[in-house]
Amino acid sequence: MHPVTFFVPSFMKAINDNTEDSLRSIISQPSPGVLTFEMLQPRFCELLVAEVENFEAWVNDTKFRIMRPNTMNKYGAVLDDFGLETMLDKLMDGFIRPISKVFFPDVGGATLDSHHGFVVEYGKDWDVDLGFHVDDSEVTLNVCLGKQFSGGELFFRGTRCDKHVNTGSQPEEIFDYSHIPGRAVLHLGRHRHGARATTSGHRINLLLWCRSLQRDEEISKRFLELVWRVLTREERKATGIHCCY
Ligand SMILES: [Fe+2]
Repeated sequence: MHPVTFFVPSFMKAINDNTEDSLRSIISQPSPGVLTFEMLQPRFCELLVAEVENFEAWVNDTKFRIMRPNTMNKYGAVLDDFGLETMLDKLMDGFIRPISKVFFPDVGGATLDSHHGFVVEYGKDWDVDLGFHVDDSEVTLNVCLGKQFSGGELFFRGTRCDKHVNTGSQPEEIFDYSHIPGRAVLHLGRHRHGARATTSGHRINLLLWCRSLQRDEEISKRFLELVWRVLTREERKATGIHCCY
């Protein structure tokens, strides 16, 4: 399949133009750090939902035990587990990293190099809501695939470091986003958020947690270099920590 069958024309054009202005022209920022833009074609959303439903039917028929997407979602599936890893690599490399490079340069947006891709399902017979949390990602892409539903708004409460993740929010950090099929939300993994109850119907969302192992490595090196400076010669020898990494 060609990208034009996945993505809406405005998104394709902004990516192909590959300039900061072209990306900014299609992206809204209704609250600081919360980016939204039209992304997926309705037909592609239908195809992906059908693929997920085929997979789930097979899991039910065979009683096969699968990994759920994360510790909080009891429904949904990891897309990397049924053949979509290459597609998700391309999605991150060619489409999400260029946007993150512009909007999230300080957290490794330009060096996103690994991902965890999954779908989540909400409704009466699936997960209903999702509590306040942060993601295990540098940058999270969240795209609604359908189907028909009410409720399920994403609520945001500002970005904090790990130490202050449970502190209160300022009024300007409080923001609710209502999902629209095909439309993407992009935010920092540590931007605190949750999902309100999906009160009727069936909501399916595609999530891509994008990470930068390169950035993690650089931070670890810098940390070890700082530790090295405060160690005595004996301690350096005993721990094996070097001055340069
Ligand atoms: Fe999340």
